[in-house]
Amino acid sequence: ISDARANNAKTQSQYQPYKDAAWGFINHWYPALFSNELAEDQVEGIQICGVPIVLRRVNGKVFALKDQCLHRGVRLSEKPMCFTKSTISCWYHGFTFDLESGKLVTIVANPEDKLIGTTGITTYPVHEVNGMIFVFVREDDFPDEDVPPLAHDLPFRFPERSEEFPHPLWPASPSVLDDNAMPLGMHRTGYGNWRIACENGFDNAHILVHKDNTIVHAMEWVLPLGLLPTSDDCIAVVEDEGGPKGLVQWLFTDKWAPIMENKELDLKVEGLKGRYYRTSVVLPGVLMVENWPGEHMAQYEWYVPITDDTHEYWEIIVRVCDTPEEREKHQYRYDRVYKPLCLHGFNDCDLYAREAMQNFYYDGTGWDDEQLVATDISPITWRKMASRWNRGIAKPGRGVAGAVKHTSL
Ligand code: FES
Repeated sequence: ISDARANNAKTQSQYQPYKDAAWGFINHWYPALFSNELAEDQVEGIQICGVPIVLRRVNGKVFALKDQCLHRGVRLSEKPMCFTKSTISCWYHGFTFDLESGKLVTIVANPEDKLIGTTGITTYPVHEVNGMIFVFVREDDFPDEDVPPLAHDLPFRFPERSEEFPHPLWPASPSVLDDNAMPLGMHRTGYGNWRIACENGFDNAHILVHKDNTIVHAMEWVLPLGLLPTSDDCIAVVEDEGGPKGLVQWLFTDKWAPIMENKELDLKVEGLKGRYYRTSVVLPGVLMVENWPGEHMAQYEWYVPITDDTHEYWEIIVRVCDTPEEREKHQYRYDRVYKPLCLHGFNDCDLYAREAMQNFYYDGTGWDDEQLVATDISPITWRKMASRWNRGIAKPGRGVAGAVKHTSL
């Protein structure tokens, strides 16, 4: 037993930066809102990696700024006040900021103050595409010229088939960046640390929690009890310069064996039948499940850190729809099948499992106390990769939502 513990401790020490990332990885792109959640002239406040962010849409363009007045720190989004198209004012004492640059451009009742023009609040680059608004959440001193394209924080695009990616199962998966891509989905708050949520998505042993899901019975799928790695190259780490950093698992190949029986428990599964899917995960914690929940589709998930014990759970199903008929059909199937049976029926079980894990990990000691086994090669590989390639570890600042409660008006 002591040997096993020593091995675990050795493995765990190899990803200390990951263990330190309770508030997430900063200087990365995260989804903020769906486009239809921010109408023209609307102001919304969100929080990512402990950073309060205010969003405003003007003439169709979305701006994102630190949601913390530099005068005395109140959240601008608590009571939106905008006197012009190019500014947002703090509703408390009138400090007014330029939406584009974040500069302090005037103070409502103190227009000659010498602070004006000399200071400002941080702005965050925004990329809106195919109905989703992404924000680059950065440290205050992260330079504009170093902001990478959104594609660097989205899952890799696999070619249809190549020597490098010899997977025989399906054509290239759709991306949210594709022309005519139609991501349909939802987001909701999960009560657990973002890392627990993220690891659940590509954990090959967790298939057990799905064995009684409605969609499994409805589709007459027969799932294995689990999947065990059979080869050292069961996971490929992708860390090319100038691209996304993450890993891909060669499931449903001879690199992973489906486990069909446990004699001790008298459990047996016969006649494996189901969808062949492939899972991958990239920084800052984006899951892609290809060929799921149907052909020509991929499910993407983000586990956007809000605080160290809450995350925004994003689930979208992407399909490229080139005609109005295809769009209508994707929407119809999403509303009637994928949303109720997959995003809820199937993934509700994941959310439940993650929340059940939170108590063990909430104070950080769970990362040292867990006892890992062979199938945990997936989270271990991810933790090491994420420790190597993250662009910064978020630290909670002052004014973080969740720390202070206040009375609503
Ligand atoms: Fe914003 Fe005073 S706190 S102007």
